[in-house]
Amino acid sequence: MQITICGGGNAAHVLAGSLASRGDMRVQLYLAFEEEAARWQAHLSEGGRVRVSTAGTVLDGAPARVSSDPAEVIPGSQLILLALPAFAHESTLRQIGPHLDDDARVGSLPARGGFDLCAQAALGDKLDSLVLFGLQTLPWACRITTYAREVHVLGTKARVDLACRPDGAAASLSSLLTGLLGLAVQPVSGFLNLTIANTGQLIHPGIMYGLFHAWDGQPLAAAPLFYQGVTAAAADTLEQMSAEVQALAAALRERFPALGPVPSLAEWLHSSYEADIAEPATLQSSFTSNRSYAGLKAPVREIPGGFEPDFKSRYLTEDVPYGLLVTRGIAALAGVHTPVTDRVIAWAQERMGKHYLRDGALTGRDLPASRVPQRFGIDTLEDLLKLESSLRHA
Ligand code: NAI
Repeated sequence: MQITICGGGNAAHVLAGSLASRGDMRVQLYLAFEEEAARWQAHLSEGGRVRVSTAGTVLDGAPARVSSDPAEVIPGSQLILLALPAFAHESTLRQIGPHLDDDARVGSLPARGGFDLCAQAALGDKLDSLVLFGLQTLPWACRITTYAREVHVLGTKARVDLACRPDGAAASLSSLLTGLLGLAVQPVSGFLNLTIANTGQLIHPGIMYGLFHAWDGQPLAAAPLFYQGVTAAAADTLEQMSAEVQALAAALRERFPALGPVPSLAEWLHSSYEADIAEPATLQSSFTSNRSYAGLKAPVREIPGGFEPDFKSRYLTEDVPYGLLVTRGIAALAGVHTPVTDRVIAWAQERMGKHYLRDGALTGRDLPASRVPQRFGIDTLEDLLKLESSLRHA
């Protein structure tokens, strides 16, 4: 099998090293930036490999080819993995689209919200002959230690949800990805489910809001703890955001019974971290007593006299326009009110210097750089559900 990984960041390093280490497939990289491709090529041309270290194990392998020209690496690839920040999905799909084989399987890890809408816009009719998929999360927490040479895996999830179209491809794809990634890849009902059930879109912007909405602009002495810094008030905000998603799921299910389960934030936390949460009684204590979250800090930047919150962090710049805002756009189509989500988005967009919501309407000038359905010309729930059904059964 020929696999091409799109991207050259942390996740792409893990995929490149671990898949190439198996020796039973041809692994390639597509990098949009020539400078990045050149760094890989220089290392590989000297016989270099990429090492993937995890607690106790090291794998290493060398991709067979690295290119910034999609015509060199996309044709003939049966599996294409987008291991990229969400803002790079659409441009990458547009670049690789003309070179995709008809039966290729193309997916992103993680998908984030509205990946199917963006793929529809970028690939058009080409999508009809492909298998499109997305994973709910990246399977690993990982960081490059030396570019093109070494990456460290800090943690691996036990399982990850998979959406794909057409439906009929789910079983073979989940078995293929389970084998390749070494963890359980479980099909869910579809991309709409993946979009709505994404808990990162609540947790990351919601906790950022809790920690920093009252920040007075003075330097912080240190980065606050992120999850352990969840106060009763922040937990209340998170609980209300989660309740708004539940109301949306209920409204959608009336029109689209195939939506599938959408766990509340508390249910998701308890099922994902059952053994790690010492005090599960409240949402606040489920965050603050979760051993997996212990010691993790909020994103900050050093400034004279201390630190300031990093409002350019992915917790806002990815989780709002490619997560929470997408869900908010679907809520608008379904006529579900989301006042607490709106409060968090309004605060976040101001801190990011972006305009998405204006007086409660999705009319801000930065909407094109998001994945709200309205941005793709989907202005009614009927249109969204029609598209979701056609993507499921195509
Ligand atoms: P990264 O920040 O390491 O990826 C950067 C790479 O993306 C660049 O090296 C470049 O190859 C590519 N890229 C960036 N901008 C681009 C553009 N405009 N066009 C084309 N390519 C571009 O990202 P990372 O850490 O690999 O994460 C990938 C995804 O996984 C992100 O959505 C991230 O939020 C998510 N994730 C990452 C985790 C981690 O531990 N690294 C954990 C959980 C989720």
